[in-house]
Amino acid sequence: MRVHVADHPLITHKLTVLRDAKTPSPQFRSLVEELMTLLAYEGTRGVRVEPIDIVTPVAPTTGVRIADPKPLIVPILRAGLGMLEGMVKLLPTAEVGFLGMARNEETLEPTTYAERLPEDLSDRQCFVLDPMLATGGSLTAAIQYLFERGATDVTAICILAAPEGLAAVEQALHGREVTIVLGAVDERLNELGYIVPGLGDAGDRLYGTV
Ligand code: PRP
Ligand code: URA
Repeated sequence: MRVHVADHPLITHKLTVLRDAKTPSPQFRSLVEELMTLLAYEGTRGVRVEPIDIVTPVAPTTGVRIADPKPLIVPILRAGLGMLEGMVKLLPTAEVGFLGMARNEETLEPTTYAERLPEDLSDRQCFVLDPMLATGGSLTAAIQYLFERGATDVTAICILAAPEGLAAVEQALHGREVTIVLGAVDERLNELGYIVPGLGDAGDRLYGTV
């Protein structure tokens, strides 16, 4: 498993505003989308391309296009949905599948309540989106699910991670073809399973408390 922490002043700047408890929902949503676009640049470094011949106004040349089968983007509902538009902007030809997961706030165990994915993921490059990697339970379950469907190449893009959760994902997916791209790794998890300093509950800050 490879882990890449994006280190860029624009990302740190936007993350700081995102973390601020005073930042209202509309601005929080815009920032998640902007951060996603910046992280997608790193996250798609390994996207498969194939050569294509074109003719410019001046001369024929060879370029590349995104290869078939097209990549699959998988936002984890709810909070991952806030990252989808930022990703689709960079990969407009990708397909989108959905996984709905919720963490039990007492046991911190994830449950899957919705799934809409192609049956066969063999040969598909998958990009999982979830802003928060806390205990790592949700991300591990999501990636294992994709592997069970035949995926062999998974990149997860998260805005924040806790070191404990990152270690747990690394241990669970050891030896697998997984890349994790992160905006930052924070200090720790608190006793309620929240990332410290973190940004609070990402789903609630994006969509309100339900
Ligand atoms: C949040 C977050 C991750 C998960 C991370 O979702 O978006 O999916 O918690 O926690 P973990 O690493 O300990 O599993 P949540 O379950 O709160 O659902 P939501 O997106 O609907 O708010
Ligand atoms: N989920 C969140 O939204 N925030 C955290 O800090 C941990 C899990």
